[in-house]
Amino acid sequence: MNAPATADTARDSGFDLLAELPPAVRGQVVPILDFGSQYVQLIARRVREQGVYSVLVPPDVSVDVLKEAGCVGVILSGGPSSVYDEGAPKPDARLFDLGVPVLGICYGMQAGCELLGAEVKPAQSREYGRVNLKVDDGSDLFRGVPGSTTAWMSHGDQVNTLPREEFTALATTPTCPFAAVKHHKVPFYGVQFHPEVTHTPHGQDLLANFLFDVCKAKGQWTMADFMMSEIDAIRARVGEKHVILGLSGGVDSSVLAALLNKAIGKQLTCIFVDNGLLRKGERELVEHTFRGHFDLDLRVIDASKDFLGDLSGIVDPQEKRTRIGHRFIEVFKRTADDIAKEHGDVEFLAQGTLYPDVIESGHGYAGTAANIKLHHNVGGLPEQLGFELIEPLRNLFKDEVRKLGEVLGLPEAMVWRHPFPGPGLAVRVLGEVTPDQLALLREADEILLDEIVSANLYRKTAQVFAVLLPVKAVGVMGDGRTHEQVVAIRAVESQDFMTADWARIPFDVLATISNRIINEVRGVNRVCYDISSKPPATIEWE
Ligand code: XMP
Repeated sequence: MNAPATADTARDSGFDLLAELPPAVRGQVVPILDFGSQYVQLIARRVREQGVYSVLVPPDVSVDVLKEAGCVGVILSGGPSSVYDEGAPKPDARLFDLGVPVLGICYGMQAGCELLGAEVKPAQSREYGRVNLKVDDGSDLFRGVPGSTTAWMSHGDQVNTLPREEFTALATTPTCPFAAVKHHKVPFYGVQFHPEVTHTPHGQDLLANFLFDVCKAKGQWTMADFMMSEIDAIRARVGEKHVILGLSGGVDSSVLAALLNKAIGKQLTCIFVDNGLLRKGERELVEHTFRGHFDLDLRVIDASKDFLGDLSGIVDPQEKRTRIGHRFIEVFKRTADDIAKEHGDVEFLAQGTLYPDVIESGHGYAGTAANIKLHHNVGGLPEQLGFELIEPLRNLFKDEVRKLGEVLGLPEAMVWRHPFPGPGLAVRVLGEVTPDQLALLREADEILLDEIVSANLYRKTAQVFAVLLPVKAVGVMGDGRTHEQVVAIRAVESQDFMTADWARIPFDVLATISNRIINEVRGVNRVCYDISSKPPATIEWE
């Protein structure tokens, strides 16, 4: 992806890849040089899906570091820079001394080709979105891929000329003569398109060909390996110290609680904060699950009055998040101080941060991803609390976390729970959050989920919830005119919550939901169905 570079991506090459690697994967890892693409973790996840361990590394990581770690191949990610820009991130010039196959994707292809003598220029015709790809060489990288297929592009630059005697063009598009290339002397492949996105239908085949045909990777890595290596890493880091974890009852913190419980047992204390913004019966469910099924030290803190007090009169969504975040820190700190008095050595705070949280908060090696939404569980907390942070799920996507939950033996109902945002119902009561509005939303949400479960749609949808709109509509009930609120139903399908489509819930199910909400929830006379995708909308309404 080419757009003006926005950040200095240079990092010192003292990065310690070995420290990041589970010992079992040495010699079998495929590191990804992170040039700042929004989709860089998606590449890592696609590689892991094939049973090959992958991890992000700084773009200028030294070849010595890669050598020491024992890579079976290397991938160069896309990124927003232009290789000819001053200060554009570049791989170590000795990259090809490594002697293992390298696959460059988009910017990564341009960076690799440039290193091998090619010229990169602004493309005469930029390509964004779906393109027709003509495959001229159906061997190794494109084995099994049809001669004519589609691919997803997003580039303003492209390789303009390259040393013909050293490179072969493997695929072309109507405007891109080097849509995929192979070098003859060093094991370098480049693709201008993005094989990691689902819009490139044979992208996964191409990655598999690279990993297994070209790199000869063994493909034996599993989520159970991830669990064991994380347990080892957590134990090594924590030692005899104590860890606290904010347990929300959602998938991420629940999986993290189970992982930490397995790793360090009684050295973990979980704090569940009842912020008054929970769904109906949620607190009881969490208490029941974690006290009943796990031998966990769980503290339940009722701070609902404080949170609701902070939100009084506030309508701005980011301000809501900020206030909730601050109060959460205050309550958490207070509770953590109490726990520290008991244990004396609380040094670590565990957080169930996932990769989409990290990327949407503008973190990452190249630091170029836009700050789309202020996720209150990323940043801020550890600095203010003075704890060291443990975030074992930081590189995973939601569906990978679910897999980990299954490996950890969590009950299905917990593993497959739809996500629930940290700020809770505060971002689903649009406008001012009051106890009355929360009560109304809770009733509507309960009916909605009840019907979704009954219609056997819960597992088929990624997230379903009700939103209470701060407007009143006219209706008629019996012989009387009503002037009451509107509930919106949001139901989405999504793999990773970075993109989502609205779920095609059958009309008769929607009809039942609408009838029940309007009949059973006093104060609501209209139900709407949200048919927006993400992007351009987001999943939550605030
Ligand atoms: P959006 O609305 O950004 O949501 O498309 C993507 C996913 O993130 C959840 N979400 C949040 N989670 N704190 C959280 O912990 C937040 O502030 C927050 N905002 C959105 C959302 O429910 C969806 O699963």
